[in-house]
Amino acid sequence: MNKLAGKNIVVGITAGIAAYKSIEFIRLLRKAQANVRVVLTNAAQAFVTPLTLQAISGNAVATSLLDPQAELAMGHIELAKWADMVVIAPATADVLARLACGQANDLLTTLCLATRASLLLAPAMNQQMFAHAAVQANLTQLKVRGAHTVGPNAGEQACGDVGLGRMAEPAEIVAALTALLVSDDTLSDWVVTLTAGPTQEAIDPVRYISNHSSGKMGFALAQAFAERGAQVNLIAGPVALPTPDKVTRIDVLSADEMYQHALELATQSAVFVGCAAVADYKMAQVAAHKLKKTAAQDTLTLTLVKNPDIIASVAALQTNRPFVVGFAAETQNVAEYAQSKLVRKKLDMICANDVSQKEIGFGREQNALSVFWPGGQADLPQADKLSIARQVVDLIIAQRNHIQSAV
Ligand code: PMT
Repeated sequence: MNKLAGKNIVVGITAGIAAYKSIEFIRLLRKAQANVRVVLTNAAQAFVTPLTLQAISGNAVATSLLDPQAELAMGHIELAKWADMVVIAPATADVLARLACGQANDLLTTLCLATRASLLLAPAMNQQMFAHAAVQANLTQLKVRGAHTVGPNAGEQACGDVGLGRMAEPAEIVAALTALLVSDDTLSDWVVTLTAGPTQEAIDPVRYISNHSSGKMGFALAQAFAERGAQVNLIAGPVALPTPDKVTRIDVLSADEMYQHALELATQSAVFVGCAAVADYKMAQVAAHKLKKTAAQDTLTLTLVKNPDIIASVAALQTNRPFVVGFAAETQNVAEYAQSKLVRKKLDMICANDVSQKEIGFGREQNALSVFWPGGQADLPQADKLSIARQVVDLIIAQRNHIQSAV
């Protein structure tokens, strides 16, 4: 049976050129036997008509908060209660701003405040607009409150620009929606332990050594495993990200702390994924008090010693060793360096990202990976980190099953 059959989906359409793709999105939902009701903002009616959407969705299209007929039955509340999921595709910069502020100045935003259903946003706008700090801050705010996103994708835009801002394709939005709505317990007998984010190595009580990892890739992986029913432990360095649903989070600061939790949890896990950017070195001696600048001293030498290699230690476990997946953040010779880490650290799989590229890697919303395992390889082209994470989970399942069946 189709996984979306019988689900009630409210599709909000706002005023972007990508609105034409929403027609196909709704067609796919109907094909999957979902019930669809469309809410169209005023400005969106310049791009697609209520008549077309009514024909495609099989239901009357709602366009106004102040529709006397619909509001006889408190239409906006009724719609808010009916929805299993609200999807806004395309979601313009304007609607993201209004949602982030909690405005209720039209039917769509009012509905989003009044519903208990989850919200899936498919942002679409000019690449420069998408990169703007205001848009990014609004998106972060919405995610912190539990909204989900799919896309945007990179590519050529209607305005002629090239970059990140194209709405996700209709089939991608359906896939994201399905993953959110349909409980999948394929991995219910798996415990998965992941590391994510940077570590902080104290220099003195006020300073530390760290790196640019935001934790986004590791958190996306934790979410992707949890979506498949796995019991997920996420050992997180210091990052300001919300914990994905059904994930147990352990916050740490230093590599030593991360090491202790990782080794303890790894032996209870089917899979261990090291996505954290762990500092390779720490201070030989952390200063007890703030280091002072002196007039005589123009340079300062810090003595560093190696941190434990967490993932290599997990991979070296003699008993209860999990399937071990590493990451490699490289700026040159990506495939070569990653493959040598796969061998040197005795991993089962390694995911290499080229962090010299502007649109992917540290702190970005998107990533692209080359994944290597003994005797195999897959390239995952640029996409949002959650889509990439879901593909990595598929590769891990396939490769771990392959190894298990050979034993
Ligand atoms: O967090 P984001 O902003 O989303 O960015 C994601 C990312 C770029 C950080 C992520 O995709 C990534 O590549 N993580 C690994 C980065 C890294 O530090 O790679 P590395 O080549 O230094 O380490 C190789 C592997 O050994 C990694 O799995 C790492 O977790 C592990 N390691 C490294 C050192 C150490 N002392 N212990 C470890 O376990």
